[in-house]
Amino acid sequence: MLTSKNDISIRSLENTEKDFNLLLKWLSNEKVTEHSWNENLPWTIGKVREEFSTDDETNKCIILYKGEEAGYIQYYPIEKDSYKFESEKDFEALKDAYGFDMFIGVPELWGKGIAKNTLLLLEEYLYKEKGVRKFTSDPEISNKNGLVFWQKAGFKPFSEVEAYDNPEEKSLIMVKEMEKKTLIFNGSPRKNGDTKSLLNILANNLEGEIKTVDCYFENISPCLDCRYCHKNKGCCIKDNMQEIYKYIEECDSIVIASPVYFSEVTGKLLAVMSRLQCYFTASRFLKDPHIHQA
Ligand SMILES: Cc1cc2nc3c(=O)[nH]c(=O)nc-3n(C[C@H](O)[C@H](O)[C@H](O)COP(=O)(O)O)c2cc1C
Repeated sequence: MLTSKNDISIRSLENTEKDFNLLLKWLSNEKVTEHSWNENLPWTIGKVREEFSTDDETNKCIILYKGEEAGYIQYYPIEKDSYKFESEKDFEALKDAYGFDMFIGVPELWGKGIAKNTLLLLEEYLYKEKGVRKFTSDPEISNKNGLVFWQKAGFKPFSEVEAYDNPEEKSLIMVKEMEKKTLIFNGSPRKNGDTKSLLNILANNLEGEIKTVDCYFENISPCLDCRYCHKNKGCCIKDNMQEIYKYIEECDSIVIASPVYFSEVTGKLLAVMSRLQCYFTASRFLKDPHIHQA
């Protein structure tokens, strides 16, 4: 399984008759091919095999909803020939992006948010595994529902191009860019002190989202060395740190800022930092492969 969250899982398409027959069943439904995947109609097992054989740059995947196969998604690094770009500049702007194409093959499952949640899951996966933060799609202009779907999924219009498989049609390249996220631990008790002034300068020069933890004013207990984390993932103390753990896992950078108190960071900051012990134990005792020891 490539990745999985709540009801949605994504697995790689296998080069097998079982998967090709599944795709053929879905693509033989005219509701599914009403606005896209219709350039090869009527689909046959031969055409499916040719289109979806797994030995090219495109990563082809099956979407599962509650464990049942529900649809198809493919993702690929944007190359010059991924879209009929009208200028080199347009390609340059997207060359670090990944493109998506997808369909939900079972119309009874439409309207349950499966497509949107699949995209969110794959975006998160590509960000974590490959550092990708820019994504594209190219619905045909005539596909009004498609345009609304991609817009609701956070994609913004980028440029109109000739549709990939249909010179009669226009497509709209749409782009979604994930913001950078920075987490700041502020160890000063002074709301307008020296540390805060420096952090303000930093914030004015940072792009994206910033979350600041003012250690003196948060409900965060120090680590109590209960050793829960020696055997379990995470920390059992239910306070504001639980939210911060989530942010630590999704942010790009962490800044630790503190006045010097007796040649050390401040006590409150150190108390908050002691709650990061669960990452040390996850690596040392639980052998969590996602945590790299320095
Ligand atoms: C309890 C206490 C201990 C301090 N210890 C040191 C120290 O060891 N070395 C030092 O250079 N400054 C020390 N300072 C001075 C602070 O680091 C300095 O005033 C700092 O700029 C305050 O930052 P803030 O305005 O962001 O709170 C200490 C201040 C306090 C209140």
